[in-house]
Amino acid sequence: MLLFPLILLLQTSSTALRTNKICIQERGYTLNTSTAKRDDFYQACTRKCKTCSKPFPPDPRFKGRYSFPVKSIGRKNCDDPEAIAMIEKGIPLILKNCSFARSAHKWTVDYLNENLKDKDHITYVASQRRFLFYDEDKLIDNYKNWTPPHEKRLMYFHEFLKMARALKKANNGTLSYFQSPLYNIEGVSPALEKDINAFDYSWLLDIVSRLGWGDEVINLLFIGMSDVVTPAHYDILENFFVQIAGYKRVILFRPDYFKSLYPFPVGHPHDRQSQVNFDNPNFEKFPNFLDIEGLEAVVGPGDVLYIPIYWWHYVESERNNMTVSVNFWFNHKNDTMESTLNGTNSATHFTNHLKNVTPHSAKRTSVAGIEDLVLKREIESLIYETTKDHSKVVQVLKEIIAGRFGFVEKGTSASNP
Ligand SMILES: *[C@@H]1O[C@H](CO)[C@@H](O)[C@H](O)[C@H]1NC(C)=O
Ligand SMILES: *[C@@H]1O[C@H](CO)[C@@H](O)[C@H](O)[C@H]1NC(C)=O
Ligand SMILES: *[C@@H]1O[C@H](CO)[C@@H](O)[C@H](O)[C@H]1NC(C)=O
Ligand SMILES: *[C@@H]1O[C@H](CO)[C@@H](O)[C@H](O)[C@H]1NC(C)=O
Ligand SMILES: *[C@@H]1O[C@H](CO)[C@@H](O)[C@H](O)[C@H]1NC(C)=O
Ligand SMILES: *[C@@H]1O[C@H](CO)[C@@H](O)[C@H](O)[C@H]1NC(C)=O
Repeated sequence: MLLFPLILLLQTSSTALRTNKICIQERGYTLNTSTAKRDDFYQACTRKCKTCSKPFPPDPRFKGRYSFPVKSIGRKNCDDPEAIAMIEKGIPLILKNCSFARSAHKWTVDYLNENLKDKDHITYVASQRRFLFYDEDKLIDNYKNWTPPHEKRLMYFHEFLKMARALKKANNGTLSYFQSPLYNIEGVSPALEKDINAFDYSWLLDIVSRLGWGDEVINLLFIGMSDVVTPAHYDILENFFVQIAGYKRVILFRPDYFKSLYPFPVGHPHDRQSQVNFDNPNFEKFPNFLDIEGLEAVVGPGDVLYIPIYWWHYVESERNNMTVSVNFWFNHKNDTMESTLNGTNSATHFTNHLKNVTPHSAKRTSVAGIEDLVLKREIESLIYETTKDHSKVVQVLKEIIAGRFGFVEKGTSASNP
């Protein structure tokens, strides 16, 4: 934590960066010289220092101080026709002044406490601020005995609120994050039910039908203690993120930052989550993280953020207050956008699947590298589904390339190796 002001100070200093080593020190990081990745790290750091323009802007409302530069996410009024055009192209966007969830604007935690009774809701408790999502369905095969990084607890809303307030007071690093589905929710008072029914679904469904998206898959009510973080990950769904109370800082990254964000392997309980801890990045292990640039915005009450499918997103709650948000996820298309092989490992299925999956998502935003991400994911998934062994995935991939592609690198024709 003491490092953060130092990083900012050094990042804005105009000292010429002459050597790699100075470059690293300028950014306030120390290098463990015994690591085998040293050269990669030096190279990545040099690239970064050449291209890095604006450092991450400090914002007193948030705890995080990050190592990468950002640009701003655009904002449009909700009824601006250009907004739909941007969403259609898969461009992240904040919609201002939407009437969609206006009935929820009064949802403070105290209001929810009065109106959400006696039903178990999903709550997570962690001993640090990162709530790295894990998929309970993946606690099988090699991960049967895997220990999740935080605890899932079912509790009544008033119990959650009491716990959150006790933890805030204790201020000992333990934090809690409420994440429970909003629909089919029980224990809802007539007043809260009226609010939910007053959501302007016709607006949402109009967008969905104009864009040809499929069904709504799930929505979640998020109530975060101050400072909680949802680490960078991507979803295989389109997402409308509605901010209700308090402020959240959202940082998005294009899908082609796959190389820089080092997702856990397919099949891992943290599948689709980045391994990099933004609060304390290990640049020796993850050197490409130095190359990253984000799109950033602070969303407040009434803002609706469109997070396109496959875009990485990182979300941080403000430091002063609890935050309330609701997410609505949609299938990108009615067809097989669920981009996993779902237990099958036939090569025919695989190629058909790729043909079906990539064109829709890739065509509209090829610039964002979605096709590339889907391809990598599908290949990895095919090998993992067949072998159920991550070391075999590495071995197979190595064997596929070993010694065979030298002629490509030398730039000679493939027919003349
Ligand atoms: C440097 O890395 C090596 C190998 O990973 C490790 O054993 C050593 O403890 C590290 N040193 C420091 C100062 O972190
Ligand atoms: C926001 O929406 C309301 C009602 O739809 C409208 O009266 C108001 O002018 C809008 N405000 C802005 C800044 O567009
Ligand atoms: C922090 O305080 C809470 C509330 O008193 C307690 O339940 C929790 O175990 C404490 N956590 C740590 C890591 O001490
Ligand atoms: C999705 O499929 C359902 C049934 O197959 C159909 O009724 C609906 O109109 C389709 N939606 C879109 C957006 O194409
Ligand atoms: C925190 O939330 C409470 C109630 O929800 C509100 O009254 C208060 O103004 C908020 N404080 C800040 C700093 O936003
Ligand atoms: C995946 O397979 C299971 C069992 O074979 C089936 O119930 C489920 O509907 C499939 N899901 C998709 C998205 O195809």
